[in-house]
Amino acid sequence: MPNAVLTLHPAFTVGPVRRRTFGSFVEHMGRCVYEGIYQPDHPSADEDGFRTDVLEMIRELGISTVRYPGGNFVSGYRWEDGVGPREERPRRLDLAWHSVETNEFGLDEFMRWAKKADVEPMMAVNLGTRGVQEACDLLEYANLDSGTHFADARIANGSAEPYNVRMWCLGNEMDGPWQIGHKTPEQYARLASETGRAMRMIDPDLELVACGSSGPEMETFGTWERAVLTEAYDQVDYVSLHAYYQERDGDLGSFLASGVHMDRFIADVVAHCDHVRSVRRKEKRIMLSFDEWNVWYQTRFDTSGPPSEWVTAPPIAEDDYTVADAVVVGGLLISLLRNSDRVTAASQAQLVNVLGLIRTEPGDGPAWRQTIFHPFALTSAHARGQVLDVGLDAPRYDTAKYGEVPLVDAVATHDPETGALAVFVVNRDTEQPVTLDLDLRAFEGPLGEGRLRVLHGDGDPHVVNDALDPDRVLPAEGPAVRPVDGRAGVTLPPVSWSVLTFPGR
Ligand code: AHR
Repeated sequence: MPNAVLTLHPAFTVGPVRRRTFGSFVEHMGRCVYEGIYQPDHPSADEDGFRTDVLEMIRELGISTVRYPGGNFVSGYRWEDGVGPREERPRRLDLAWHSVETNEFGLDEFMRWAKKADVEPMMAVNLGTRGVQEACDLLEYANLDSGTHFADARIANGSAEPYNVRMWCLGNEMDGPWQIGHKTPEQYARLASETGRAMRMIDPDLELVACGSSGPEMETFGTWERAVLTEAYDQVDYVSLHAYYQERDGDLGSFLASGVHMDRFIADVVAHCDHVRSVRRKEKRIMLSFDEWNVWYQTRFDTSGPPSEWVTAPPIAEDDYTVADAVVVGGLLISLLRNSDRVTAASQAQLVNVLGLIRTEPGDGPAWRQTIFHPFALTSAHARGQVLDVGLDAPRYDTAKYGEVPLVDAVATHDPETGALAVFVVNRDTEQPVTLDLDLRAFEGPLGEGRLRVLHGDGDPHVVNDALDPDRVLPAEGPAVRPVDGRAGVTLPPVSWSVLTFPGR
């Protein structure tokens, strides 16, 4: 059986665990908003039409921020359509997803929902079909106290208190030819810089996110970041990254190593940011907002045929996630945590139905937790304190996509206040279990009894949760782990994600 060794030391840290690592994303796309978080005729709906079964699961996930309202949707969106009396709101074409947007759910509903879900709202402005003025109008509506047109409009619409939204995305994927209002690097750089400057005139303490590349495979990757930051360095705090992964042509080995791709992408974007910092002799460092990431079976997402009818909330990108997908999602969270020194915000895409952590049945059926829900919820629950810079000695295997990569990937967090320690680990071996030896000798005093939870498919990595069997895949309780002289060992099944927690004092 292959063996890996993980050495942990509380003094070797990457940086603090950032709560914003555990963000998600709600877009007006498919059934994410309608029939996802909002469905007034559902038996579980509250007085605002929000699904309480979904709200409960969101709390269980420990979501920090939620990005809204898109995504590609935002690049054609008029935010004013979604506020004011419902019966006066216009029905519009949503070109991004070939749908009809009823505007029944808009900004004020989102803010009310965010409060109930106990999440921090993160907004995106439309820099596709709109520009500086509309972004400022929206900011005024959202964040100004009172006494001006849009602030007073918010009050008249029933929200006396400003929403005080901190994080704002300056557009979405503006480098992508699929984007409404797609721009060249220079066009976007100018618009982002001017929009950011004007928005800061209203509220100087905003945290602004410039669009980075939609992926490292984009032709303009690197050139884009350089152009945007050269122009907008002073105006922005973050550059965004987006990445989606899928198992292609049965190549499970490469798919399980998706975290390797994420690590390399992050390292490259950091290099681009720091290059501009150095050339422009800046003190400030630009942080990374990985504000779209997940598994997405894009090859099943067919846009090749003639466009369908214009309908509201059609099911789009409702992937049924397998155990292997959950192992990859757990692995991507390991990668995000490992890069916590520069990736200080992230949004899993998306929360419900569309690439969802949560799935709902159309009509008055139930909601259930997809397989990917579990590594997200457990990582969010147990990552506390400092991310440790771990020493990992693991056998390697060959992948078609990324060359030789470690068979095991891991990260750990340690809370110096409580002494709690959490180790997150994936076994990428598709055939065999791996033993993992933990060297914990650097931790003073007894760590207590470790609790191991393991997510695997009992020999079938492609098993899913669905409406008929919503709890088919659940993390299983492993044997108690009792370190002896600062050493412990666990066995990790093939294609698995695990969390080992020690309670501390
Ligand atoms: O999350 C789904 C879509 O993926 C988003 O709308 C877009 O930004 C990305 O291409």
